[in-house]
Amino acid sequence: MFARLSRGSKVLLGAFGALTAGGAGVVTALHVSVNADENVHPPSLDWSHNGVFNALDHKSIRRGYQVYRQVCATCHSMKYLAFRNLIGVTHTEEEAKVIAEEYLFKDGPDEEGNLFDRPGKLSDYFPRPYENDEQARAANAGALPPDLSYIALARHGGEDYIFALLTGYCDPPAGVDIRDELYYNPYFPGQAIGMAPPLYNEILEYEDGTPATLGQLTKDVCTFLRWAAEPEHDQRKRMGLKMLMIFSLLISAAYYLKRHKWTVMKSRKIAYRPPPN
Ligand code: HEC
Repeated sequence: MFARLSRGSKVLLGAFGALTAGGAGVVTALHVSVNADENVHPPSLDWSHNGVFNALDHKSIRRGYQVYRQVCATCHSMKYLAFRNLIGVTHTEEEAKVIAEEYLFKDGPDEEGNLFDRPGKLSDYFPRPYENDEQARAANAGALPPDLSYIALARHGGEDYIFALLTGYCDPPAGVDIRDELYYNPYFPGQAIGMAPPLYNEILEYEDGTPATLGQLTKDVCTFLRWAAEPEHDQRKRMGLKMLMIFSLLISAAYYLKRHKWTVMKSRKIAYRPPPN
């Protein structure tokens, strides 16, 4: 088919092909160069739950919940967590009940058709700080505080990123201007974040007496957010360990059985004996 085209069309088609290929190359190059962004990458931290067999530090999750509740919850919702989720992880059932009852929830309608407030129950989800996203934006100079339920999975770098973000606030370098309501944070994409530094030394007092330094508070809230995003974390690793143990037994048994069954075939000798003339 190509042979039947006139010389002019061949040249034209060739030029079109070359241009397309070149254009694709340029686009790829641009894409790659844009990917090499100016964000500082968070360092990988040595979390106690790193590694195949390490569970989350549950004392730390409990302290992290305290940090979330006393600090972050003024702006951030965690709408996928219910008070019952805390039972057996950070709190006993009685403690979780007491916590739930500290909040008021709208319920109803009652017999007269009116909504009423009642104390929280274990089955209630964590209360939201704002009625809706618009209210949240209005209260935060236009920036929407994201729901934190799955934030540890929703950001590259997970808890490493959140740790770096919360501890990484600093003055902007010379020549960089930041709008009044924004704060400079080298780890945040774009470097100008709408969240004021939320944590500082001794912003709260831990119920277990741990010194509430910035590093400690941040580490605990990150562990809590990791647990929230992946509550099955410990179970998953425990299942993995069991699986490895059971399969190592099964595989050696299977290997033995295979040798046993095949021994006749493998050790036989086939010989050709020509018949005597
Ligand atoms: C005064 C309100 C306020 C408090 C308190 C607050 N935040 Fe935020 N946070 C915000 C706002 C607003 C944003 C959105 C910022 C933006 O998009 O520029 C945000 C964004 C974030 C983000 C997402 C950053 C990203 O990559 O998009 C994380 C993670 C976060 N906050 C964690 C926390 C944690 C953990 C705490 C508690 C220690 C906390 N915040 C306390 C207002 C708050």
